[in-house]
Amino acid sequence: MTTQAPLLTIPDYEARARETMPIALFDRLFSTYGGPTMFSNTNNLAALEAIKLRPRVLADVSNRSLSTEVLGQKIDSPIMLAPTGTHQRAHPQGELAAARAAGAAGTIMSLSTASSYSIEEVAEAATGPLWFQLYFFKDRELTEILVRRAQQAGYSALMLTVDNLGARSTEREDRYAYILDAERILKNFVGIELPDLPNRDNFGDMFESALNWSDLEWLRSLTSMPIVIKGIQTAEDAKLCTEYGVEGLVVSNHGGHALEGVSGTIQILPEVVEAVGDRAEVYIDGGVRRGTDVLKCLALGAKAVFIGRPIFWGLSVGGEDGMRRVLEILRNELDVAMGLCGLTDVKNAGPSLVALPNGSNNHTSMLDALERSAKLLEQGYLTRHEFDSLKTKLLM
Ligand SMILES: Cc1cc2nc3c(=O)[nH]c(=O)nc-3n(C[C@H](O)[C@H](O)[C@H](O)COP(=O)(O)O)c2cc1C
Repeated sequence: MTTQAPLLTIPDYEARARETMPIALFDRLFSTYGGPTMFSNTNNLAALEAIKLRPRVLADVSNRSLSTEVLGQKIDSPIMLAPTGTHQRAHPQGELAAARAAGAAGTIMSLSTASSYSIEEVAEAATGPLWFQLYFFKDRELTEILVRRAQQAGYSALMLTVDNLGARSTEREDRYAYILDAERILKNFVGIELPDLPNRDNFGDMFESALNWSDLEWLRSLTSMPIVIKGIQTAEDAKLCTEYGVEGLVVSNHGGHALEGVSGTIQILPEVVEAVGDRAEVYIDGGVRRGTDVLKCLALGAKAVFIGRPIFWGLSVGGEDGMRRVLEILRNELDVAMGLCGLTDVKNAGPSLVALPNGSNNHTSMLDALERSAKLLEQGYLTRHEFDSLKTKLLM
């Protein structure tokens, strides 16, 4: 009998999930390093690694508090679940399991528009607060139906994703040539009596690419839920968010799934936080894999963080239990990091906790990324061709 390696960290869950999922599906969507078409994702990870912690000592850390408030709602830890489509690709219980695990951890789960269980089914199963992530469709009637259903079902915030509306690259689909969505059911559209509903083949094409800041007013007129904009990557847009009165925003590049060639999200966080001031809450996602990553994000001004891929890893390895463990591990790691950094309350994390890469910033993260890629090549995660292509980009 072979004994399996223990699952002690989020990367352990990633490695185990990679063994259980179809490899093309895993590499295309769920992996940390997806090869040459996921360079922005690599930047998220490398940028987090390049930031170092500045621990303080003799600070009486015998009592530590990890709880915080987002949009007026208390959560037990600043680690929330990012909206991610069709969790049934990882486990039959899909979003129901994820919502229960989030509830058990005392945190928020955001439900994707593209979920495999409906807005109402997830609300029924959930044991904690939920946010609803909206894709704004060309068909406004459809968009309105979704928003009203989320409010009716008790979701406490509306999260509008804006970083993949303008256009869509099919490079990853073409490269991995995997019909991953063969059994994908988008439950939120079942039973709606409108022509031309989104389905797995046309989903991204149905987004409203003409969307504009002024459309937020229309959205606001539909709901009393606070609005969070997901996918902000510049101080300019962060400032516009505040001018249009949104309550929160997420610094995010869709986990590298949208535009290639952008900065790691943590690199953008300081300019966004500065532009926003106290006029809205700022959250972040992209590459959070360790409690120390969470701490770095909080130190640079994020109120809380979201995790994306680790949801699929937890679910695929162990359903609800796996997801609970993923959240527990991150929470424990954050608690340990706080103890070792002299921090007693997550709400007091500030920039003095971190050392930003200075003049050698790009150089350091480039070397980190190269080193990691070489390791992945060695372990067989990257082909020689993928590695060479990554290397060329890194050295450019
Ligand atoms: C498989 C997958 C599906 C996703 N689906 C959605 C989605 O439906 N809506 C959305 O706003 N973001 C979606 N995202 C992006 C996540 O919300 C989040 O921004 C990203 O995964 C964070 O990076 P991380 O995976 O490195 O933690 C998805 C990401 C992944 C990996």
